[in-house]
Amino acid sequence: MHLSLEGRRAVVCGASRGIGKAIAGVLAEMGAELILVARDEAALAAVAEGLPGGRERHGIRALDLLDTAAVKTCFSEMAAQAPVHVLINNTGGPAAGTAFDGKPEDYERAFRQHVVAAQVAAQALVPGMRKAGYGRIINITSTSVKEPIPGLGVSNTIRAAVASWAKTLSRELASQGITVNNVLPGFTSTERLDYLFRQRAQHSGNEVEEVERAAIAQVPAGRFARPEEIAWAVGFLASPQAAYISGINVPVDGGRMASL
Ligand SMILES: NC(=O)c1ccc[n+]([C@@H]2O[C@H](COP(=O)([O-])OP(=O)(O)OC[C@H]3O[C@@H](n4cnc5c(N)ncnc54)[C@H](OP(=O)(O)O)[C@@H]3O)[C@@H](O)[C@H]2O)c1
Repeated sequence: MHLSLEGRRAVVCGASRGIGKAIAGVLAEMGAELILVARDEAALAAVAEGLPGGRERHGIRALDLLDTAAVKTCFSEMAAQAPVHVLINNTGGPAAGTAFDGKPEDYERAFRQHVVAAQVAAQALVPGMRKAGYGRIINITSTSVKEPIPGLGVSNTIRAAVASWAKTLSRELASQGITVNNVLPGFTSTERLDYLFRQRAQHSGNEVEEVERAAIAQVPAGRFARPEEIAWAVGFLASPQAAYISGINVPVDGGRMASL
């Protein structure tokens, strides 16, 4: 099976590091022309430079996904340049903390950054996908969609909102050649995971290494994921071969979740 995105244009949000950066690498290897989005322009430029085709082939856009007006302007401009066929909604996860301790503004910010930004991006890009008869909207969420994770109250809540948005949208767009799916990373070696383990260590009074060992013990595969392992699942869902897969949640978690 040869997976190709030759002739396709893709926007990858949160592409300056971690899982988003790995997704950019995979989609570029598949032949897509990319636009990389995040706040850190210098980091985006470095990522683009390292991709097949480099800065000549791939664009960058410095954008804060919390700024809804800026998101609207940015995505409208991208859509006006040329059709975008693949949209990867990915951004930083909300801060750790219990559901009870989350402030109303924490919930509002998370909703804006994860749901509203994805909706604004989709509204701008779907007309081009429709015209092309090819669209892939892929949201990076979390296994907490299926099994809420203790100590990540705001995050758990917002992932469920994204999953519900995506499911609804997938049924609305399926007849137009557009699929909408979610990829649910398990423990993946990125700055986000380092942050979460530091937080857990601080709250439990344990060493970070101890927290890491306890986390690995929960994973039947016996290790954390590399960001590329999440990106390969995304690459498949973005490919023509995944045309009949829509509205699903794909865990990539080394078998950690116990639920069906
Ligand atoms: N790593 C894991 O174990 C794991 C597990 C489950 C779920 N997830 C989720 O998967 C997603 C990606 O995770 P990751 O580990 O790759 O996270 P990460 O290392 O923290 O990277 C987050 C990316 O999002 C960008 N970003 C953050 N806030 C932004 C904003 N306001 N506007 C625009 N871009 C923003 C960051 O770039 P800038 O700072 O340059 O803006 C960066 O490129 C997150 O939602 C995370 O919670 C991760």
